[in-house]
Amino acid sequence: MSARTRPRSLPRLLGRAVLGVGAVGAGTLGYAIWEARSFRLRRVDVPVLPAGTDPIRVLHISDLHLTPDQRAKQRWLSRLAELEPDLVIDTGDNLAHVDAVPYVTRSLGRLLDRPGVFVWGSNDYYGPSFKNPLRYLTQPERKGAASTNVLPWGDLRDAFVNRGWHDLTHREVRLEVAGVRITFRGTDDAHLNQDDYPQVAGPVDPAADLTIGVTHAPYLRVLDPMAADGHDLIVAGHTHGGQVCVPLYGALVTNCDLDTARVKGLSSHRAGGHESLLHVSAGLGTSPYAPIRFACPPEATLMTLVPRPAA
Ligand SMILES: [Fe+2]
Repeated sequence: MSARTRPRSLPRLLGRAVLGVGAVGAGTLGYAIWEARSFRLRRVDVPVLPAGTDPIRVLHISDLHLTPDQRAKQRWLSRLAELEPDLVIDTGDNLAHVDAVPYVTRSLGRLLDRPGVFVWGSNDYYGPSFKNPLRYLTQPERKGAASTNVLPWGDLRDAFVNRGWHDLTHREVRLEVAGVRITFRGTDDAHLNQDDYPQVAGPVDPAADLTIGVTHAPYLRVLDPMAADGHDLIVAGHTHGGQVCVPLYGALVTNCDLDTARVKGLSSHRAGGHESLLHVSAGLGTSPYAPIRFACPPEATLMTLVPRPAA
């Protein structure tokens, strides 16, 4: 038997298989690191305005998880001001570093001169820490927790408020945006158990053209009363769209008790006989300890609010 036709030995075949698996794994990891920096602007029409109302453009940003060295994300964020939205909604998790506040405000730039509202997420209050990624699969609804790594969220609040944005934490705020009277209600972060929707609960403002509920983490105990109170639209972040998804299948986890079918994008939520539209952002960042995304690119969303279809 010649050397060319001799069967390959089992150890050699196993060695090649291990090398092949390793190469695929390294390639997948490399792609996931690249995708985490592949920022996208998603556009969606949201039919929530009264008939005959001109459309308004709302930029929804969420989950920046910004650190000073994330230059590509900062450059991408700084170009969003060119959209000149009528309104900006920021659903929290802006920070991932104690020195990140000026980088957030510089990146948002002229967006802070537009009308804006915001709520906080756990990653505004507390810095990131290493967590076993498998816990998201084994404990998908595990809560966040306070830590000693406190971030300067008060400085970020002052910067936002001084530029005219409104903190919706357990507050109701009425704004006129492009001629549309909007009433907003927000909560603190449900992932930290700091939500207290009853502080602002009750039927929505009957004088408003549009009512929007805003929260960071879309837990059902926040969505249910917001919908039952009659909000036209509920806006949230937190899920990262699942962050590591299965192509052609989607998200495996939402990091809260929302179902995976509504992990990102426009859907709806019905409670108390009322159906609200629900928009969940997949967000723009990741924890610095898991800087990967797969089949779930980082995003901001330009929502064009348009009139509801005729009944
Ligand atoms: Fe987040």
